[in-house]
Amino acid sequence: MSVSRPAAVIVLAAGEGTRMKSKLPKVLHEISGRSMLGHVLAAARDLTPEHTVVVVGHARERVAEHLEQVAPEATTAVQEEQNGTGHAVRMAVEDLAGRDVTLSGTVVLTCGDTPLLRGSTLAELVAAHEKEGNAVTALSARVPDPHGYGRIVRDAAGAFTGIVEHADATPEQRGIDEINSGMYAFDGALLSTVVQRLSTDNAKGEEYITDAVALLRGDGHRVGAWTAGDWHEVQGVNDRVQLSEARRILNRRLVEEHMRSGVTVVDPATTWLDVQVRIGRDAVLEPNTRLRGATVVGEDAVVGPGATLTDTVVGEGAAVRETTADQAEIGSGANVGPYTYLRPGTRLAERTKVGAFVEVKNSTVGTGSKVPHLTYVGDADIGEGSNIGCSTVFVNYDGVNKSRSTIGDHVRIGSDNTIVAPVNVGDGAYSGAGAVVRDDVPPGALAVSEGHRQRNVEGWTQRKRPGTASAEAAERAERRRADNSNKQ
Ligand code: UD1
Ligand code: CA
Repeated sequence: MSVSRPAAVIVLAAGEGTRMKSKLPKVLHEISGRSMLGHVLAAARDLTPEHTVVVVGHARERVAEHLEQVAPEATTAVQEEQNGTGHAVRMAVEDLAGRDVTLSGTVVLTCGDTPLLRGSTLAELVAAHEKEGNAVTALSARVPDPHGYGRIVRDAAGAFTGIVEHADATPEQRGIDEINSGMYAFDGALLSTVVQRLSTDNAKGEEYITDAVALLRGDGHRVGAWTAGDWHEVQGVNDRVQLSEARRILNRRLVEEHMRSGVTVVDPATTWLDVQVRIGRDAVLEPNTRLRGATVVGEDAVVGPGATLTDTVVGEGAAVRETTADQAEIGSGANVGPYTYLRPGTRLAERTKVGAFVEVKNSTVGTGSKVPHLTYVGDADIGEGSNIGCSTVFVNYDGVNKSRSTIGDHVRIGSDNTIVAPVNVGDGAYSGAGAVVRDDVPPGALAVSEGHRQRNVEGWTQRKRPGTASAEAAERAERRRADNSNKQ
């Protein structure tokens, strides 16, 4: 399809979205890892417009800050008071004029709360608009329930004559099932002047952009309504019920795209994917799996059931069951889960195994090494071919500082060990069951710790951890003890 590069895309996003009943501005609510506004801007970006202007008003600092992150190419125009969609467009046009931008060519107008809109649909709208030489082309749709929408009014011959808002419509007009989506292609020069002529003589007392259709037609210009093939695309989100509906539709779309490119999704209804996720061929997603952010799954990997992976990389052929992972790297052929928690900075090399009730944080596990059961690995580097016995804890925190430990290659850490950082265990070393490893273990040595008799070092916290909450609590207890013995 050959369409011109639009002079501008204007996105209306100044409204509060009262029906969301939210502290967050409506357009910033998230669907599939992207704000609703972000989805609209992604569709707009497909048109490579010369200017992208977002009209902001309610919570505008917050919306503007978000735009800097997701669409730095966009600029904002402020609408101080929300006096209607026509007024909002006027603010955008005046802002552009103030920056000496003349709108020659097509201008696309969209809303920030229609996340299902495809860039290709906007391109088709622009193509139809330009082919017919219209002053304005409204994107319309036939919907099962037109209640609340503006209706597309046609004359006896079927020619589009204007848009009437639901509140202003006659009973017969309310029977029309062709609705105005709120998205349009305009001739930029005509839009610039027509926005100065919109009245507030309507049910809401607002400037309606919809009135531009009848005004331009009255001036003798061609106007058109172009019907979207998939009415879901133009559905706006006004409350959280519609938000969940939009999320389901968008997710279904994403899941189908992945299935069509060679991914097996066992249960599309319980598989939730973010837009940025990439998945290799012949990977299998088992039920109740959620892949978030920039997660990447390699070919032939099996993820799920019950996995939630955020910004995580899963290597080829790895198996990841019942796992929560955040910013982790799982090597190819690795076997993770069930019931495993991988926290940021976890790097599992090829063919590693990390099993049930294991938590790993900011640590590397070398090729072929195993951490099979009931273990915490924090701030450690484990070499290749090593095995960490059941119920081992890497004690990385002394109450004040965190330290790292290293375990060499082909080490056998016994069950129920406590590895007290910082400590280094050399290649090929062993440790006995229940060992408390405080001192470095040379390569090939066996570490055992015998005679666990408890010894209390009085006043240690106050001397060694002064100023901490623990030291203060100990001092308070000490004072209470002293007071009590004075009273007696
Ligand atoms: C609008 C259309 C209606 C269409 C419907 C589609 C008008 C008069 N009516 O109605 O024909 O069927 O969209 O969803 O245009 N906004 C501003 N500033 C304002 C008012 C609105 O930025 O002063 C923004 C809102 O944030 C929102 C969009 O414009 O993103 C649409 O506004 P909304 O109040 O939802 O319009 P509707 O009454 O739904
Ligand atoms: Ca609306």
